[in-house]
Amino acid sequence: MATIPLKIEDKEVSLPVITGSEGEKAIDIRSLRQDTGYITYDDGYGNTGSCLSNITYIDGEAGILRYRGYPIEQLAEQSSFVEVIYLIIYGELPTAAQRARFSGLLTEHAPLREGLIRFIQGFPRDSHPMALLSSSFNALGAYYPHLVANTLNVDKPQFDEAAAIAISKVRTIAAHSYRVAHGLKLNYPNPDLGYCENFLHLMFSQPYRDYVAKPEVAAAVNLFLLLHADHEQNCSTSTVRMVASSGANLFASVSSGVNALWGPLHGGANMAVIEMLKHIHADHDDGTRFIQAAKTGQGHRLMGFGHRVYKNFDPRAQIIKKSFYKALTSLGIKDDPLLNIAMKLEEIALNDDYFISRKLYPNVDFYSGLIMRAIGIPVDMYTVMFAIGRMPGWVAHWHEVATTPKLKIHRPRQIYTGPAKRDFVPMASRG
Ligand code: ACO
Repeated sequence: MATIPLKIEDKEVSLPVITGSEGEKAIDIRSLRQDTGYITYDDGYGNTGSCLSNITYIDGEAGILRYRGYPIEQLAEQSSFVEVIYLIIYGELPTAAQRARFSGLLTEHAPLREGLIRFIQGFPRDSHPMALLSSSFNALGAYYPHLVANTLNVDKPQFDEAAAIAISKVRTIAAHSYRVAHGLKLNYPNPDLGYCENFLHLMFSQPYRDYVAKPEVAAAVNLFLLLHADHEQNCSTSTVRMVASSGANLFASVSSGVNALWGPLHGGANMAVIEMLKHIHADHDDGTRFIQAAKTGQGHRLMGFGHRVYKNFDPRAQIIKKSFYKALTSLGIKDDPLLNIAMKLEEIALNDDYFISRKLYPNVDFYSGLIMRAIGIPVDMYTVMFAIGRMPGWVAHWHEVATTPKLKIHRPRQIYTGPAKRDFVPMASRG
């Protein structure tokens, strides 16, 4: 086994090298503290491999994203979200029989229990749907006690059931939260519709008229979800894995992932892109002033630009950009002032040395917010849409952790920078 020598003070240690299936290399520092008393410091974990995982491969420099070995471009072109869910969770593309069985499970688990519906209806009208989604996911565990009892010994039929519940109910909960927030009657899932069409029906059907999704709208939703299905150790997925490492059940772990996704630097970015465009528009700016402020660090960041991992381009952004223009044409959308601002921002930033030198390119959120807007998804649902898309990734990562032999609870270390030891000061002596 290859090793790397490291000299610390008067001690020399040999650290093993781990090589991934695509040739990526890591120094295994697990024995470092025990052998030398040192730990490593990596604020934000930008250079830390937190696990071994066989789900998704990313090469940020080359703009590569593969689910279980399959390039994202091929999946986007030839597959569907439901097939990709199966691939991500079970490791292989489904056969026709597996696909039919899986679709059957999704149909069976689409409706919510009446108690959970009442729970959702009890939220205030102005609740953010992400609060509702994470709470409802946590509450799901209460309805399936047999699925939350012994999660450190994952049993296959129970995992299949829990996974199907998570994947299917996330879209029902998401759509119900939208209907509640808008004071609308809830729709029941329609077993005759595909995954994306059913979601659009749950969102938009009215008691007096069924919503029938245009094929290009269903295709845009399908593509959006497929492109978000997994992204290895991002903030929300690492959160799910962290929670799972304590032995927490799938619903509790995923609920934590929803909360992590909510932040504007992660899943909230697609919504923040539209808010930013509205702000620029209201300011009678064409984007030039906003970009100038973003560059000084005194204004807001240019939302939808930059990525921790992709430093040349985000392959998902390239795919969604192409389909975005197609969808705009088929939906007959032109002369949207926000769209014009977005295009101007993109043009300025891609030619500006500040963004070029820092390798800041449009990420998937820059276009996904625009595509959601074009197909009529309300802006406060964008991050929820991301959560629906990311569900298979969270489920697969939870499973990877829960089935790890000799699982270790995740517990990073820190460098303490607070006051040194001091003696307690009684109230009367405090100045
Ligand atoms: N606008 C302006 N400047 C930026 C931006 C931006 N969007 N992103 C990074 N920078 C600048 C930083 O100010 C910093 O400049 P400096 O070196 O002069 O101090 C430099 O670029 C590096 O920035 P970091 O924050 O160190 O980059 P990091 O990799 O930690 O952050 C992140 C990545 C969080 C995505 C960041 O680029 C950002 O905030 N982007 C906007 C939010 C966004 O679009 N998030 C979506 C992420 S993708 C996803 O979740 C699907």
